[in-house]
Amino acid sequence: MLSPMRTQVGIIGAGPAGLLLSHLLHLRGISSVILERRSRDYVERRVRAGVLEQGTVDTLVESGVGERLLREGLVHEGIELRYGGAGHRVAFEKLVPGRSITVYGQQEVVKDLIAARLAAGADIRFEVDDVAVHSLEDAPYITFGGERLDCDFIAGCDGFHGVSRPSVPEGVITTYEREYPFAWLGILARVAPSAEELIYAQTGRGFALHSMRSPEISRFYLQVPAGEDLDEWPDERIWAELKARLETVPGFALATGEIIEKGITPLRSFVAEPMRHERLFLAGDAAHIVPPTGAKGLNLAVADVRVLTEALTRFYADGSTALLDDYSDICLKRVWRAQHFSWWMTTLLHTFDSDDAYGRRLQTSYLDYVTASDAAATTLAENYVGLPYEVLP
Ligand code: FAD
Ligand code: PHB
Repeated sequence: MLSPMRTQVGIIGAGPAGLLLSHLLHLRGISSVILERRSRDYVERRVRAGVLEQGTVDTLVESGVGERLLREGLVHEGIELRYGGAGHRVAFEKLVPGRSITVYGQQEVVKDLIAARLAAGADIRFEVDDVAVHSLEDAPYITFGGERLDCDFIAGCDGFHGVSRPSVPEGVITTYEREYPFAWLGILARVAPSAEELIYAQTGRGFALHSMRSPEISRFYLQVPAGEDLDEWPDERIWAELKARLETVPGFALATGEIIEKGITPLRSFVAEPMRHERLFLAGDAAHIVPPTGAKGLNLAVADVRVLTEALTRFYADGSTALLDDYSDICLKRVWRAQHFSWWMTTLLHTFDSDDAYGRRLQTSYLDYVTASDAAATTLAENYVGLPYEVLP
């Protein structure tokens, strides 16, 4: 083994959570090293989320990594709910004035953060093998690829399939989980969006989502059965199904183009409580997963990291552990709000095979309520754009 390195916070994972944590800590004068299993190229190309809440945008801009986001991100002041042969706009500018979302790809956020970290001289190790955490009670350290990193704290930002959460001794963490009987088939296509705002479509054939990345690139999702094989979905079938689910209102025609990326993501709800064990702190998908219908996963990762940064800053300023002790409880309030919202949006918009006629009527009744009542629509809008950190940290 090489001689050990030392840093204040050892971070596992260079996704949005790990990179932003490292960046925010740096601004507070706290050192970190990031250990990432994949290559830089791989993490910068991984196509995932696209919707940034107002608070996420503010966090990135205020911390100096929002320049390209402000230039290229698409600010949206509403979304469309499409069902029963009609489209209904949820108007953020009316329901939650002053708050909006920005459509900007997660991999663009990742690229911006990596560039900022490297420009500041950060130590990010890509393609590291065999990451393991040790001695969490007092003098924690991380081993990887024959090396050792000593640190004061470890941040487990290594996503749902990472090593951090499983390293916590049995019995410490309680998990809550729900699996859905469907997945999302997602594509990126070289074609101008067919609508200006996102369309969430509920149909008898299953859910479809029309999103976008730029004036030239569109992003789409289709509800498919859990365990579906991508080979079953040649491009023509994908376009035919998207048309069947989206061309349901008069005058709407879906433009098609070259598909440049496709993948299938299972839908899952998951929470690990508490999000801390001794000197290991879990953040982002390592601690919780939401189905993507509410567009909350990346935004929750940002919220966790904000709290953790503040807690570590106070610790290094005066030795106070109060906020570190409260980290999990503070984060879990927002996590559970997002869990409920994401589950609710998923239930509202997807087709469940088990649904009887009664279940389908309830779904339509709720959609009618949300699109008719400003009070109901405001509930959707304020959760979708994200509750302000003053309301929920
Ligand atoms: P990740 O992004 O998963 O990063 C974890 C990192 O840790 C990865 O780089 C991984 O390679 C690394 N790692 C894992 N194991 C190890 C190990 N053993 N050693 C070292 N490194 C390791 N969220 C939204 O907010 N809005 C959306 O619109 C949205 N849409 C989505 C659409 C899809 C199709 C999907 C799949 C997700 C979507 N999400 C969305 C969720 C969002 O992508 C995640 O919540 C987000 O990536 C979480 O960031 P993270 O940094 O916690 O985890
Ligand atoms: C996306 O553009 O990738 C996206 C948008 C909205 C969601 C999920 C994903 O709810």
